[in-house]
Amino acid sequence: MKKKIVMFGSYVADLTGTAEHLPRAGETVFGELFKIGPGGKGSNQAVAAHRAGADIILATKLGKDVFGDLARDFYTQEDIAADYVLTDDEKGTGIALICVDQVSKQNQILVVPGACTNFTDADIETLRPAIEAADILLVQFEVNMDALERVMDIARTAGVMVVLNPAPARKVSREFICKADIVTPNEVEAAALTGVSVGDAADAEKAAAVFHEWGIPQVVITMGRRGVFASTPDESRMVRARAVEAVDTTGAGDAFNGGFVTALSEGKDLFEAVEFGNALASLAVQKFGTAPSMPMRSEIEKIL
Ligand code: RIB
Ligand code: NA
Repeated sequence: MKKKIVMFGSYVADLTGTAEHLPRAGETVFGELFKIGPGGKGSNQAVAAHRAGADIILATKLGKDVFGDLARDFYTQEDIAADYVLTDDEKGTGIALICVDQVSKQNQILVVPGACTNFTDADIETLRPAIEAADILLVQFEVNMDALERVMDIARTAGVMVVLNPAPARKVSREFICKADIVTPNEVEAAALTGVSVGDAADAEKAAAVFHEWGIPQVVITMGRRGVFASTPDESRMVRARAVEAVDTTGAGDAFNGGFVTALSEGKDLFEAVEFGNALASLAVQKFGTAPSMPMRSEIEKIL
C-alpha cells in the first residue's frame, strides 16, 4: 500500500529567459528564448511526485490573476486535484524571474512568492484534516514561516512523518528544523543551517553530523552533479548522480525531492529513495522548464 503524502508549499509562475551569460549588476543582456511556465518549489515537487505515481495532495495558494488561472489550467491538464489549492484576496500569484545561462546551464532566480506568503490560520484549519490523514508531509521554505510552523506542528502531533526541503536558504532556529524527521538541503542550505560550509563529501558528513546531533535521524544533502550525501546514524554515504547532458538545471532539486518522497511512500529505504530521486532529477534537467520537465513513471522506470 502506498502511503499518503501531503505537499504544503508554493506555486510560482516561472518567467524564464535564456542568455549567453547571466546579467551582472547594472548590466542588460540580450536574451533568446522566453517562456512562462508553472513553477514554485512546492508545486514542482508535487507535480514530480504525481507524475512518478505518488498518492499526493497538493496544498498551495494562488492570487486572483492570470497566473493563478494558468496554474489551475495546468493542474486540470495534469489531473491533479485542486481541492486544497486556495485563493488569496490580496496578494497576487507568486512569480519567479529566472535567467538561464545557455553555456553553463546555471541559473539565477528572483522569486516573489506573493499569495504563498499569505497562508492564514483559517487556511491552515482548512488543510488540517488532510494533513492529519496523511502519512508523509512534504514542505519547503517558500511560504510564510508562521504557517509552515503550524503545519509541521499539526503533522508531528498526528504522527505524520515530516520531510523538510529547507529551500530557498533561510536562517531559522534549530528548534524549527528539529520539527522535521528528514531534511533535504542542498550545499548552500546545509551551510546556512549548520554553519558548516559544504564543498565535498567530507564536509557533507560534518554537516549531516550536526543535524543528527540536533536529533534529526535522516539527512540528505544534494550536491548537484556530484550526487547526494545520504546519512542515518548507522550509515552514511555519497550516492553518485547520473551523468547526463543538462539543458536547464532549474528545478532539479524539486524533481529529486518529488521522487524521493514517492519512493519513501512506496516503502523504499533512505538510500533507495535517494537513487529514485536522482533518476528523476537526471531526466528533468534534460528538458527546459521546471514542472513541465518532470518525468512520467514509465520514463523513470526505463532508466532505473
Ligand atoms: O526550485 C525551482 C523553483 O524555484 C522555480 O520553479 C522557481 O519558481 C523558484 O521558486
Ligand atoms: Na528542466
